[in-house]
Amino acid sequence: MVTVRAPATSANLGSGFDVFGVALSRPADIVRVQKATETSIDVTGVGRQFIPEDPEENTVGAVADALDAPAHIEIDKGVRPASGLGSSAASAAAAAVALDALYGRGYSREELVPVAAEGEAVVSGVAHDDNVAPALLGGFTIATKRGVTRVDADVTLVVCLPDIVVSTRDARTVLPADASLEALVETVGNAATLVAGMCRDDPDLVGAGMRDSVVTPARAALVEGYDAACTAARDVGATGVTISGSGPGVLAVCRPDTRRVVASAMVDAFDGQGVDARAYQTRVGDGAEIL
Ligand code: HSE
Repeated sequence: MVTVRAPATSANLGSGFDVFGVALSRPADIVRVQKATETSIDVTGVGRQFIPEDPEENTVGAVADALDAPAHIEIDKGVRPASGLGSSAASAAAAAVALDALYGRGYSREELVPVAAEGEAVVSGVAHDDNVAPALLGGFTIATKRGVTRVDADVTLVVCLPDIVVSTRDARTVLPADASLEALVETVGNAATLVAGMCRDDPDLVGAGMRDSVVTPARAALVEGYDAACTAARDVGATGVTISGSGPGVLAVCRPDTRRVVASAMVDAFDGQGVDARAYQTRVGDGAEIL
């Protein structure tokens, strides 16, 4: 048996839609695999009632297929599905690492990125690497058609998870069809600022670089209480706030000494809008690890 922990991740970070991603130190999924003649799946943990155990419909079933590695797979969910925290990517990344080790395939983490992305596509409808790359490699990642670039970063983050369900499929239907040249110039500037901030562990630059005038405004209406949570977080010291992945999670960057107040301010702000929420005080973390 092989057991792997893979972290929650936050994709996009505002200006890096479908490109940027970051591994979070918590929460995480745990996946255990044992060789079998055909693949079967058991799911426990948070949101298990929303996750199909049929291998044809589950992200890890697609990973087992792609690696030609049939197994009995137990998924202990720590990352809530449809949260914007890369729930399916965490399971897919953990399964990819576990099955690779179980069958001695010898793939590198970079080589497992497209494998895990295929698994995630079963759930989201699109194979994109911005969650699976940090789930596999850790740190801050830049996923493009030419591959993944990983940056070590040490930045304090707060993720607030309102009790709302937003599926990635639905969140992609509200995306604008195109963007202006002005928005392109602004986005390049913000994205470059964010990368510089990650390289320097600078929460001011990261927060400033998360601004986004294209995708985030189009999705904000899907997250009831989003504007109130952003304002509340900024008022107590968050340097940047945006939708985590396709939502409804909300990601804030801050200095370590403000993370508690930022977390409470966001939860209180959602509460004030009649939405239950919980917050994770977290930071940029490691990728999947064999336990
Ligand atoms: N980049 C993706 C999106 C992440 O925002 O739709 C969601 O998995």
